Parts: sequence; C-alpha cells; structure tokens
Amino acid sequence: MTDSHKNISVVILAAGKGKRMKSDIPKVLHRICFKPIIYYILKEVFALEPENVYVVAGFQGELVEQYLRDNFPAARTVFQKNLLGTADAVSVLAGFKDELGSKCLILAGDMPLIQSESLARLLQFKRDTGCNAALLTTFVDNPCGYGRIIKDEEGSILKIVEDADATLQEKLISEINPSVYCFDTDLLFEYLKKVKPQNSQGEFYLTDLVGEFVSAGLKVKGLTLEDSIQVEGINDRVQLSLLEKIMRRNINEGFMLSGVTIKDPENTYLDREVEIGKDTVIEPFCFIYGKTKIGKDCIIGPFSQIEDSTIGDGTKINKSVVQGAVIGRSNNIGPTSYIRPLTVTGDNVKIGACCEIKKSTIASGSKVPHLSYIGDAQIGSGVNVGAATVTCNYDGFFKNRTIIEDGVFIGSDTMLVAPLRVGRDSITAAGSVISRDVPPGSLAIERGKQVNVENGALKFRNKKISAKIQEESCEENKKNQNED
Ligand code: UD1
Ligand code: CA
Repeated sequence: MTDSHKNISVVILAAGKGKRMKSDIPKVLHRICFKPIIYYILKEVFALEPENVYVVAGFQGELVEQYLRDNFPAARTVFQKNLLGTADAVSVLAGFKDELGSKCLILAGDMPLIQSESLARLLQFKRDTGCNAALLTTFVDNPCGYGRIIKDEEGSILKIVEDADATLQEKLISEINPSVYCFDTDLLFEYLKKVKPQNSQGEFYLTDLVGEFVSAGLKVKGLTLEDSIQVEGINDRVQLSLLEKIMRRNINEGFMLSGVTIKDPENTYLDREVEIGKDTVIEPFCFIYGKTKIGKDCIIGPFSQIEDSTIGDGTKINKSVVQGAVIGRSNNIGPTSYIRPLTVTGDNVKIGACCEIKKSTIASGSKVPHLSYIGDAQIGSGVNVGAATVTCNYDGFFKNRTIIEDGVFIGSDTMLVAPLRVGRDSITAAGSVISRDVPPGSLAIERGKQVNVENGALKFRNKKISAKIQEESCEENKKNQNED
C-alpha cells in the first residue's frame, strides 16, 4: 500500500475475557474456518503495511502471545493487567507513544470479517477531512448490545452511548459503533487520562473519548460502512457459528471463482490458505486444511479429510483421511483409507479400500488395493500388494522397516515380519508369514502342507447329520417326560 501508512500504528484490542463465550481460552483464539478469529484481522491489518501492529492481550494473554510469536512475529503483544475496559486497554500503549507514529488505528479483535479496504478508507477519510478522530459507523437491524452513535440536528457526532447506559430513546438508534477508530496519537493519550469509569459497568470506556473530543472542540467524523457484516463482532458461540458460515461461503466462492468445482458449498470446509488447482472437484463434507496443496483435475470424494498434504494432478481420493502426506499424480485412494504422516507416493499408485499407510514410500505404478496395513515400508515400483497384507513393523520395542523391491508380487494375507527385504521380482505365497529376507526372483512360501481326504466332505456331513438327529430325539424325549 501507500507509504503514508508508515506513520500509522494499529492497536488490536484482545484482552477481554469474552465472558459470553464461556470458555477457558481467549475469545480471539477461537477458530473459524480452521484459523483463530484474530488471524483474519491481522491479515487485513498487515495488508495496510502500517508502522507497527500491537495486540493488547490480557485474559490468557500468554496463549495470544504464543500464537502471535508463531504466526505473526511482526505483531507485538502488550499486556493489560486488570481488564478495566477498552480505554484502559489502549492506555497500556502509553509507554510506546514514541514509536506509534502520528495516527493510531484502533479496532476490537473480535470482528473477523473486516476488510483492509474498509480500514484504508477510514484512514483516507481522516486525511481528507482533517479531523482529529475518525470512526466507522454502521446501521444494523438489531442494535442491541452495541454502542449507539449520538448526533446533533446537523448530523455531527456528539458522543457514543453504550447499550447498558442508553435511555429507551437512545436504544432506538440503529446507527452503531463498530469499534474501529483512528485517532491523532498525541490527542488520544492526552484525552484517555480524562476517561472516568462513571457508567453502569464501572469500566473505562474507549467510547467516552468521542464525547471528550467533541466537548473540547476537537473534530470527530464518522464514516458509514454500508456492509455492516464486516464489523459484526463475535461475543458468543451462536455468533461464532453464524460468522463462520459467512466466512465459509466467502472462502468457497473464492475457490469456485478460481476454477474449482464445489458441489455443495454449504457443506464443504476449506482453509483459505490451501491451494487447489483448476478443474478439481470437491464433493460434499470434505475438510481440507493446513499446509495443503491439491493439483488440478483431482476429484476429492465425499467425507474426505486432507491436512498438511500435497496431492498431485489427476488424483482421486474417496472418503479417506490424508495427513502430512505427499501423494503423486493420478493416484486412486479409497474408499475409507487412512494415509498417515510421512507417506510419499509416486504416480499412478492405487491405495484401495480400507488401507492404512504410515511413514512409507510407494513408488509409481504400485498397488495396495484392499484391507492392508503398510507401516515404515519402502515399496518399489510395479509392486502388487495382495489383500489383507500386513507389515508387522513393531515388535513391542522397536519400529522396523520393510523393503519391497520393484516388481514384487505379495500374495494375499502375507504377514511381512520386519526388518525384512523382499527382493526384486519375487513372489510371496498367499497366507505366508515371511520373516526372513527373500532373494530376488524367488517364490517365498510358508504354509503347513495341505491334505485332501477322498470323499472326506461326504463322510464329514454324514457324521454331523447323525449327531444332529440324535440330539433332536433326546430333546423330544425330555419334553414328553415333562408333559407326563
Ligand atoms: C464495544 C464498544 C461498543 C461497540 C462494540 C462493537 C466499548 C466500551 N464498547 O462493546 O461501543 O458497539 O464494542 O463490537 O468500547 N477489551 C480489552 N480490554 C478490556 C475490555 C475489552 O482488550 O478491558 C477488548 C475485547 O477483547 C474486545 C474488544 O476490546 O476485543 C471489545 O470488547 P467487548 O467486551 O467485546 O466490547 P463490547 O461490549 O462488544
Ligand atoms: Ca464485542
């Protein structure tokens, strides 16, 4: 953005307990669409390229500080000791006055739909009008809970009255305070000292500053935001779910407009940071999040969950869970398979129904089509792993590796007891427990010898039938005796 934002600091108020959330974690860390509420606000704020960004933390403030350190290291956490109200929260910044620049943009940390364009418009409005304080205002159908904007007959702002302190007449006003303000920094701190907790909640209200400015003859201007949803705050979990729904719609529309088909946007859950290629189809009830990148022409079948994974072009995933994996091109996964972290597959790999793959590599063209567990394995290319094969990787103490070289055919129900190497182009016979390395090109078979008894089936059945007849006649006799 413009260089002019260099003398502006942003202060995000996030110290409040969020009483109405009834939670042990700070309100701003509650998640919507996979990210904490404050993530969305910080993204918009940093888009302005301001001089400094401060977050005022209080209730469980260390958690907020930790989140910022890990995700927004350029944001600085400052602590409000006693949560005495929004004016008290801003007062904490008095010690940083020299580094704040000439203007302070202050906003509440609980409005995740705010857009940087609206913040930039307010800054521009303040410059254009030359006022000392500029604030966004908006009109809402139900103003209950919000501070009301009180104006004189000419339409100039006089003060803000909090819902808890408003008269019945004032409560009817539908123009509200969204809690987005820009103040001249020196005046802000000068007048903060004048705010007194003389109200029904006994708090230091930042909103009182507006009245203080007006009384002192300073210029206060309001900029009306048409799109009031942007400044809707989250105060309880009902609002959390309503705003999450709107956020979800926005995110999904973004993906659809970039060329992704989403069959049922109401029931598709995407993290806005994931990447999805053109012509990929996402079917209902998918959850795709974290550091995930999905290629083009993929089909992500219903009820799939993909986290922190890369999926190559043309891959189909059906009703499966993929976590921390790198999947190649044109793979076919599922239904109901579980691909766990550190799994890497080449191209044209099939992992079929009800398989679990953990920390394994499977090279191009290999298949694990049915009901298998593959863990700590390295599978070459062109390998077929028969149904219900298990790599027995854990001996109760250590995890051991299984290496299956190119072109191997593993018969159904083979137990591969690791550590084990199955050499190139070899075959294991179905039902074998293989516990010694198999040299390349061999057939490994481990089974008891089979015996076929001539007419044995007929003899067996006759024996069982006579036993059954005997049992039934015994029961009949008993019944007759009881009746006699
Ligand atoms: C506030 C405004 C109200 C406005 C509404 C918009 C005041 C007095 N009221 O009310 O006019 O319509 O926001 O959503 O400012 N916070 C602190 N320290 C505190 C108290 C609060 O950092 O001691 C933070 C909270 O974490 C929150 C923000 O300030 O992010 C607003 O606090 P909240 O309790 O949600 O204020 P509202 O009652 O919604
Ligand atoms: Ca609020």
